[in-house]
Amino acid sequence: YVIGVDLGTSAVKLLLVNQLGEVVKEVSKSYPLIQKKAGYSEQDPNEWVTQTLAGLTELLQHFQGDKAAIQGMSFSGQMHGLVLMDNNNQIIRPAILWNDTRTTDQCKQIYNIVGEKRLLEITKNPALEGFTLPKLLWVKANEPGNYQKAAKFVLPKDYLRYRLTGQLHMDYSDAAGTLLLDINKHQWSTEICELLDISTSICPPLIGSHEPVGKISAEIAADTGLSPATRVFAGGADNACGAIGSGILEDGKTLCSIGTSGVVLSYESTNDKDFYGEVHYCNHAVPDAYYTMGVTLAAGHSLSWFKEVVAKEDSYENLLNEISAVPPGSNGLLFTPYISGERTPHADANIRGSFIGMDSSHERRDFVRAVLEGITFSLHDSISIFRKSGKQIDTVISTGGGAKNSEWLQMQADIFNARIIKLSSEQGPGMGAAMLAAFGCDWFDSLQACADTFLQVEHEFYPDSDKVKMYQQLFLLYKNIYYQTKELNE
Ligand code: XUL
Repeated sequence: YVIGVDLGTSAVKLLLVNQLGEVVKEVSKSYPLIQKKAGYSEQDPNEWVTQTLAGLTELLQHFQGDKAAIQGMSFSGQMHGLVLMDNNNQIIRPAILWNDTRTTDQCKQIYNIVGEKRLLEITKNPALEGFTLPKLLWVKANEPGNYQKAAKFVLPKDYLRYRLTGQLHMDYSDAAGTLLLDINKHQWSTEICELLDISTSICPPLIGSHEPVGKISAEIAADTGLSPATRVFAGGADNACGAIGSGILEDGKTLCSIGTSGVVLSYESTNDKDFYGEVHYCNHAVPDAYYTMGVTLAAGHSLSWFKEVVAKEDSYENLLNEISAVPPGSNGLLFTPYISGERTPHADANIRGSFIGMDSSHERRDFVRAVLEGITFSLHDSISIFRKSGKQIDTVISTGGGAKNSEWLQMQADIFNARIIKLSSEQGPGMGAAMLAAFGCDWFDSLQACADTFLQVEHEFYPDSDKVKMYQQLFLLYKNIYYQTKELNE
């Protein structure tokens, strides 16, 4: 057996997986977001540890066999979150998360000092509020006392791994989301650090996602019931692990994953293509590979926000089942999911969402369908960027909340004009983490061999040409909304 730990934004999910790739037991433990001000999003790293330990204990309580049969463990984690540790490895302040947008000034500062072109050359990514470097600069400018105390910065799952093993590292796939990694040299960028007056000593040692970091500490083993022989592998960014857990392991494979945020992610065997910063370009958690990715900030979050406002007591299932009674196009209602700003394609933290075309005949179900269409249009914006660059996207593997409803999967086929594949294992990042552990434990020669055993196609959805045409028209209107509403929020 292996354990895949997915440290998400709302919960940590733990999967116990056997050698066939079957999930034998799954445990999820949630923790709150701390939102002190509009645009702020923080979490207490100690909560991640407490809830993971509680989850591991529960997992182990259900496990009847010899504990030593759980051979390995690895991690997937929410990306970009800044965790600051002092020289005793104590947490200095709450973690500032990926969806925190307070750092617009720091992004400008990065462009002014490093230059947009140079930043793209070194990191392959633009300066966006969600990334880690602007957060570090925010703390430097606004909390100098905390910054002075900082001996190391890490990302969420690195901190969790440190607490379980006593070893501090950051893997390349997560480091790629900091804006401090030189993607060509596979090293921290001394140039960016020097230009922004950041000591390189604050950057943790780098490691490959499949590499071993050591074993579970004796104390954690005793607390949770795990065997102290359990090997721990570094793990990766949730999007990289989600890609592994969905078999995005060779050129031509594209993933659409809808969780709190939504991503369209495509495998890259090299890092030398140019997307001019329109999409993120990161190291994969697969050795020597990369991926490109467009991000919709509020994907599932748009739906959960809408449910919270109008259908608090109802289930998601009921809400989504209603949409089959609404024709594509939601009877003239259009939604843009910019409720907390948008990354791809606008990189605009200030824009806000809209409903356009409301009619007194509209019912709740029209709004629900419009929300789903708006989220899917936003993801289609990323697919359009890929296609514009010459990338062929005729098949998309869909995972996460967006793959739970067949009407929504059909909508993805019609809006993306691509075949949509739903896998039978819907575990995404947690499964990717388990696969990294399985590969690390030498169960397989390659991650591809692991995917061949672990992942199966459950269903395929094909685009309907009439609906494709209708959605192409609507997409043009949808795209216009951004430019027409932008000034409202400036
Ligand atoms: C990716 C991003 C999100 C988080 C969610 O750049 O910010 O997808 O990784 O956990």
